[in-house]
Parts: sequence; structure tokens; C-alpha cells
Amino acid sequence: MKNFTDRVAAITGAGSGMGRSLAIALAREGCHLSLADRNATSLAETAQLAQAAAPQVVGAPLRITTRALDVSDRAAMFDWAAETVAQHHRVNLVFNNAGVALSSTIEGMEYSDLEWIVGVNFWGVVHGTKAFLPHLKASGAGHIVNTSSLFGIFAQPGMSGYNATKFAVRGFTESLRQELDLMNCGVSATSVHPGGIQTGIAQSGRISKNMIGFMIESEQQGKDDFEKFFITTADEAARVILDGVRKNKRRVLIGRDAKAGDWLARILPSAYQVLVVMQTRRMARIAHKRALARDAAATSRRA
Ligand SMILES: NC(=O)c1ccc[n+]([C@@H]2O[C@H](COP(=O)([O-])OP(=O)(O)OC[C@H]3O[C@@H](n4cnc5c(N)ncnc54)[C@H](O)[C@@H]3O)[C@@H](O)[C@H]2O)c1
Repeated sequence: MKNFTDRVAAITGAGSGMGRSLAIALAREGCHLSLADRNATSLAETAQLAQAAAPQVVGAPLRITTRALDVSDRAAMFDWAAETVAQHHRVNLVFNNAGVALSSTIEGMEYSDLEWIVGVNFWGVVHGTKAFLPHLKASGAGHIVNTSSLFGIFAQPGMSGYNATKFAVRGFTESLRQELDLMNCGVSATSVHPGGIQTGIAQSGRISKNMIGFMIESEQQGKDDFEKFFITTADEAARVILDGVRKNKRRVLIGRDAKAGDWLARILPSAYQVLVVMQTRRMARIAHKRALARDAAATSRRA
């Protein structure tokens, strides 16, 4: 799809981060929007920002609709897809972008946490793909954009739930793309692999208590240190994603960290893990020393 003007795009996780940036960037190009998020308040803010970014065309305002939902709810997703077509008369693009983060050891992981992340990150993408696919085919020109991650290429300790869902999204989307190629049905698909992007995902993610004293010293320190790796803005990520859709890319890597991680996993497909373990040990030692120094300073202040 070379341009987005007068197209209709559905975006999940549109209330924040890359979903919001995609909504604004598409609105700027005159693309009508059907936006979804579990957070109705932030979703309404995105709709306002997107409307403000839209080109001012007399007599033909941009249509922006919103729906508060949980992407892991299959019925709600099918209902939203039907509602999108009823409101906009067609749909051309779906961005299965909503996602959450979980940090936990496998040994200590609660099944409820694992079910939560699989529900959002994997099933949300499956429901969004299956619910919208018939409508995308009917439109004659469609594209499915599923957000995986650098962690869909490259695994990390303490991120098994996230890694599992993002590797699954990559496999699902690569298979989908091949099926769509074989069908020659006017619909395509792209798997998106961002590196660290400056969004709210670290702060809103879940960190299990079993990580404390293992790889991190406190929940907040873990979240703050994770954010230090967020080197690309959400607006730049949205620009790269839309450029990838225009070029009909199968895989979109975002940021120099994603490119480096992808390269490392290619040249050292199993040995990269040794480097990750060394780096994780080093970071855990630094966090531990910082915590000890903070405790010592607090004790001397009290004395
Ligand atoms: N930020 C990064 O560094 C990074 C890196 C790689 C991949 N990603 C992926 O990018 C996507 C977008 O994340 P982001 O970084 O913009 O994070 P974000 O937290 O800023 O945005 C995620 C949005 O998804 C919504 N959401 C969460 N659970 C939902 C649910 N069950 N139903 C509906 N909406 C839900 C949230 O309310 C939020 O508005 C995610 O799939 C994430 O895993 C992010």
C-alpha cells in the first residue's frame, strides 16, 4: 500500500506509545481511524490528538471512532471488527500493536501472569488477524501489521513469557504472509520488531517478586534500568513501521539496537546467549553495588 489517504486503519493499543504515534501519523496522511485500547481515557486523548493532526479538508472530516476493549477477549475483537466496517464502510489496515511486559523467572512464574501476557500479546494478535482478515480481503487492498519485538528474535533471561509471545507473533505473522502471498488476495502482512522504544511499557509492565535479588534490586530500579535501553522515540518507530508497510516489507526492524540484536542472533545463533548471560550478570552486579551504596548513605544520614 503506497499511500494511506482515505484508507481506514484499525489500531489496538492506540491509547499510548507506538499505537498513539501510529494513529497521529496516519491521521496526518488523511487515513480514517478505528482505535481500540483497554484504557478509555487515554484512547479518547489519542482520538483528539489524531483529529487535531488531520488535514483540514472542507466537507470531508476524518472519521475517527474508538472502542474500549481487551484484545484478549475474542468476542469483543470480532464485534469491534464488525463495528469498524459498519462505521467506516471498509477497513484496509490493522495494526495489532497492543502489548504488555512481564519480568519473572520461569521457576517462580505465576500461571496467572503467564496466561495474562499470552492473552494480550499472542491471542490479541490472533484475534485481531482473524477478526479483520475477511474485511481486509473484501476491501481489495489490505495490510496486517503485527507487533513482535527484538525479543521475538533474541531471548533474554527473566523475559520468558514476553519472549514466548513475541517469538510466536513472529512465526504466526511470517506464516500468515506466506499464505496471503499464495492466495494473491490483495492483503499482505508485516512482522514488526522494535528495539527499545520510549513508551510507557516498562512502567506499566509486571515485575515478579522473584526477580528481586536475582537480576534486579527493586521493582522500580528494574523498570528504570530497563528504560535506559529505550533509545528510539515512538514517533520515529511509527514512521519506520509505515515506511515498511509502503514498501510491503515482511520484517521491519526498528532502531540500531534491533538491527544489532538481529545481526548477533544470525552470526551467533546459540552462542549469543553466553554474551547475554555475561551482560546480565554485569548489570546485576552494578545494580547491587548501587543499592549497597544507597543503603550505606541512608544509614550514615540517620546516624
Ligand atoms: N517499547 C518498547 O521498547 C517495545 C519494544 C518491542 C516491542 N514493543 C511492543 O510494541 C507494542 C506497543 O507497545 P508500547 O511500547 O507502545 O507500549 P505502551 O504501554 O505505551 O502501549 C501499549 C498500549 O496497549 C494497551 N493495552 C495493554 N493491554 C491491553 C489489552 N489487553 N487490550 C487492549 N489494549 C491493551 C495499553 O493500555 C497501552 O495503551 C507492544 O506490543 C509491545 O510489546 C515495545
